[in-house]
Amino acid sequence: MKIFKALNTSVGKKIAMAITGLSLALFMVFHLIGNLNLFLGPEAFNGYVLKLKKLGFLIRIAEAGLLSFVLIHVYSGIVLWLKNKRAISKTPSYSITSTPRASRYTLLTGSFVFIFLVMHWSTFWYKFNFSKGNKTYYEIVLGPEVGFGNIYYTLFYIIAIGLLGYHLKHGFDSAGQTLAIKGTKYEKTYYSLAAVFWFWIPFGFISIPVYFGIILRLLG
Ligand code: HEM
Repeated sequence: MKIFKALNTSVGKKIAMAITGLSLALFMVFHLIGNLNLFLGPEAFNGYVLKLKKLGFLIRIAEAGLLSFVLIHVYSGIVLWLKNKRAISKTPSYSITSTPRASRYTLLTGSFVFIFLVMHWSTFWYKFNFSKGNKTYYEIVLGPEVGFGNIYYTLFYIIAIGLLGYHLKHGFDSAGQTLAIKGTKYEKTYYSLAAVFWFWIPFGFISIPVYFGIILRLLG
């Protein structure tokens, strides 16, 4: 199939990374809006989750789509990085450590974000769908077991989402180059929009563990 052939080339992988990355960033906007219901209290948050659950099969399809986008993004990122590293080490005047710093940091932060996602799914998503017990959704997210009632989870979320912001900043730069936006009249709009994704969206996410896991704890 032509699409698989195209995905096997470096350019194909770069385009796949840009499209999957931008789609995942878009998902984050909806996810953040939903999560901000936590600030409105248990009724608002539990009501929001129940509304999502009513979508039934559609949610499962969306989740499968998200998972495949994450996997395509991670796979293409690793293959491209290895190719880049091999090409650089073959150039006599360069050493391995001269792989561009931004690309090395993007791989590192990306790996950390992946670990965060695995942990995020195996706690919140798993509990919400398979082991809720008699707790409400609100109690799970703010509770001590896997939620922001636990200082270690709280700190892990703050660090992971901070690194996600860094990853997105460099990701948007790369995607801008891949999709040939740099140097066009759309460049300014694109980079202003990128800042919403790499700064304001992570800022919104971080406000949740900071408020529920730290500020409320300090206020006793
Ligand atoms: C304070 C931060 C966050 C909170 C409170 C939170 C909360 C949740 C909850 C409760 C679920 C399970 C939803 C369900 O099964 O109905 C979930 C799933 C998920 N989260 Fe998060 N999340 C946060 C940050 C993030 C971030 C930063 C990302 C992206 C990098 C992310 C990506 C996902 C994905 C892909 C799913 C699975 C899809 C879904 O069920 O909606 N989350 N999150």
